[in-house]
Amino acid sequence: MKPFVFITRKLPLEFIQEIKRAADVEMWEEEEVPCPRELLLKKAAKADGLLTMLSDKVDQELLHSAPQLKVIANLAVGFDNIDIDHCTEKGITVCNTPDVLTDTTADLTFALMMAAARRIVESAQYVKEGKWKSWGPYLLAGTDLHHKTVGIVGMGKIGRTFAKRTTGFDMKILYHNRSRNREAEEELGAEYCEFHDLLKRSDFVVCLAPLTNETKELFNREAFQQMKREAVFVNASRGAVVVEEALLLALEEGWIAGAGLDVFEREPIGGDHPLLRLPNVVALPHIGSASRETRTEMIQLCSRNLSAVLSGKKPETPVQ
Ligand code: DGY
Repeated sequence: MKPFVFITRKLPLEFIQEIKRAADVEMWEEEEVPCPRELLLKKAAKADGLLTMLSDKVDQELLHSAPQLKVIANLAVGFDNIDIDHCTEKGITVCNTPDVLTDTTADLTFALMMAAARRIVESAQYVKEGKWKSWGPYLLAGTDLHHKTVGIVGMGKIGRTFAKRTTGFDMKILYHNRSRNREAEEELGAEYCEFHDLLKRSDFVVCLAPLTNETKELFNREAFQQMKREAVFVNASRGAVVVEEALLLALEEGWIAGAGLDVFEREPIGGDHPLLRLPNVVALPHIGSASRETRTEMIQLCSRNLSAVLSGKKPETPVQ
């Protein structure tokens, strides 16, 4: 009997051919509506493999109800939605999608920084709403990026690729990371900093660190208070690295000048969330890796990883 794989979102069939060769596949039929938890638990109960989204919680409850599960391929580089320790204990291989999304996510992060600095979204809205009556010397004037200091928290592959983009704008690069990134130092002239030193010195503070016990709520009240009043905070990692109440206060009280956010504590963020009322916040719906090319590569990589494990081979990108 062929193994059974459940996919928690509707994906184009032509990109999951690898899994289809190795397994019987069922897929949740919606693209933008998450698979209901009850259904996921039911399917997991008989699944040998799961292809999950970052919004699916793969916790002990799910793992206990999935006695046959051998492999989980998560359609993201981040895997904080999965209880990795428990998977390891149960001998379940977990795979993610690193590398294929590095450039795309770095591009988006740069765009978000630029949009927040130069008030791109606000300005576009201003024109579309018919508010543009005349040219004005300081009309929707933002702040420059070029020759400013960017402080990157999380100098992994995406951090370093983002940093590379900032060199085209002659930005000074500071970074904070679990360990020194000598390649970024040599190649890009990036300077390693203690976290609080980085906050004090940066005009742009950009978080690209994965969500871990160490980074959870790293950006709290104290952190925002240490940033420059002109600083712009950008987050393209995970919402839980920020204490959102503290960020809101920082923006309302003018401790910092603005924010560009691709990720939130709760996703999707409700349309009535107070952060969204602020003109100095650019908010995106977690689209870091969302280019058609990259999403296709991510799906194909997940497909190959599932097929490899279910055929007794090594996957390309295991996380454990
Ligand atoms: C990831 O892959 O973890 C990103 O957050 C997706 O945009």
